[in-house]
Amino acid sequence: MICFDSVSKVYSNGTKALDNVSFTIEKGEFAFIVGASGAGKSTLLKLIMAEEKTSEGTITVNGFDLSHLSQKEIPALRKSMGIVFQDFRLIENMTVYENVEFAMRVTNASTRSIRRRVPYVLGLVGLGEKARSYPRQLSGGQQQRVALARALVNNPSIIIADEPTGNIDPEMSHEIVELLNEINHCGTTILMVTHEHRLVNEFGRRVINIKDGKLAADIPDGSVRK
Ligand SMILES: Nc1ncnc2c1ncn2[C@@H]1O[C@H](COP(=O)(O)OP(=O)(O)OP(=O)(O)O)[C@@H](O)[C@H]1O
Ligand SMILES: [Mg+2]
Repeated sequence: MICFDSVSKVYSNGTKALDNVSFTIEKGEFAFIVGASGAGKSTLLKLIMAEEKTSEGTITVNGFDLSHLSQKEIPALRKSMGIVFQDFRLIENMTVYENVEFAMRVTNASTRSIRRRVPYVLGLVGLGEKARSYPRQLSGGQQQRVALARALVNNPSIIIADEPTGNIDPEMSHEIVELLNEINHCGTTILMVTHEHRLVNEFGRRVINIKDGKLAADIPDGSVRK
């Protein structure tokens, strides 16, 4: 489902962010990506989202060969993944409902399916009661749950999260990963970058460790499914 084969990434200023990285993440897996600041974690995610191109090697995501991706294939690739960032990136002048609705509208979903799906995903993340609130009226953890609802609304096969718990307190962080865990149990592949060893240890899933752009360790999923 996500396959890196000898991938290197050198930015235009000469920085080598990834160096000969290979791994495969199967459909339905949950993997944490860890490593020091500057190790190349966000670069790895940006390559998967086709926001950056590889310098060497090949990446396959959901059957798309990212080295030979045409401009018109990008929307289909992006639609198959839900993306969550550390800073939530919600639209401030839209309500919770509208933020999630907007993500569906841009894919030309019908009004009927939007009316059915948006309340459903808000319910999934426990925010059914907050549909009419604005982002600024919510806690950090709640805002991140809106971002997660938005990522989920188009029913992606992969969720990519770059430090989704970086701006929220430990208890809320646990809840967010717990939600990702539940989403994973329904079959969605999860890739989550984190600095928090506590979370990684708590959830016991696969850990891909990046060090100076190289794959330093790849520890298999040790979790017992709840
Ligand atoms: N657009 C860019 N142009 C040039 N160099 C970049 C660019 N983006 C990242 N880099 C460099 O590539 C390396 C890896 O950066 P990356 O953002 O992937 O690290 P990271 O592991 O996500 O770090 P952090 O934990 O701090 O978020 C760093 O040396 C960084 O300075
Ligand atoms: Mg980063």
